[in-house]
Amino acid sequence: MKSHRTEKLDVLLDEEKIRQRCRELGEQITRDFEGEEVHVIGVLKGAFVFLADLVRHIELDVSIDFLGLSSYGSRTESSGVVRMTSDLSIPIKGRHVIVVEDIVDTGLTMKYLLENLQTRMPQSLAVCTLLHKPANTKVDVPMNYVGFEIPDEFVIGYGLDDAEFSRHLPYIGIVRDA
Ligand code: IMP
Repeated sequence: MKSHRTEKLDVLLDEEKIRQRCRELGEQITRDFEGEEVHVIGVLKGAFVFLADLVRHIELDVSIDFLGLSSYGSRTESSGVVRMTSDLSIPIKGRHVIVVEDIVDTGLTMKYLLENLQTRMPQSLAVCTLLHKPANTKVDVPMNYVGFEIPDEFVIGYGLDDAEFSRHLPYIGIVRDA
């Protein structure tokens, strides 16, 4: 697909690489939670594509819920001020919860989310993020499953947006001159 937005992109992770990694992560989760039910929580909006691909590789009893978060800040800099735009529809008390995120950048959003979810008394709480930008870490958060460590660049596609555009791209690209 060509548009004025995709013309300015360098592909960082193509469809095949992402597909392969989703399979590996799904297999790892399947092994780690053998014999258990897992409750997967997707963080909207960015995680919707990744979650859909990931869960199809988890061979366990899986239930799914979503919550919406939006963080204030400029496009390339997170402020750490997070707003919950929609809450879970199912209680998580006593469940093995896996939070699925598109990207952990400074870690501020994930820290806020984990503190919030911990108060609801899940049996266990794990994090699965497709991307991690280690160079930008401000707070350390536990990440049990990481798809790819990426450089400190602004990336879009496969759920990640630039001002709400480009979430639908099947690959992840770096925006040139961001
Ligand atoms: P945090 O800095 O870890 O709190 O990340 C905050 C949020 O910023 C993430 O959940 C993403 O929605 C967004 N974000 C961070 N880096 C990128 C990027 O490279 N592209 C698109 N969104 C990003």
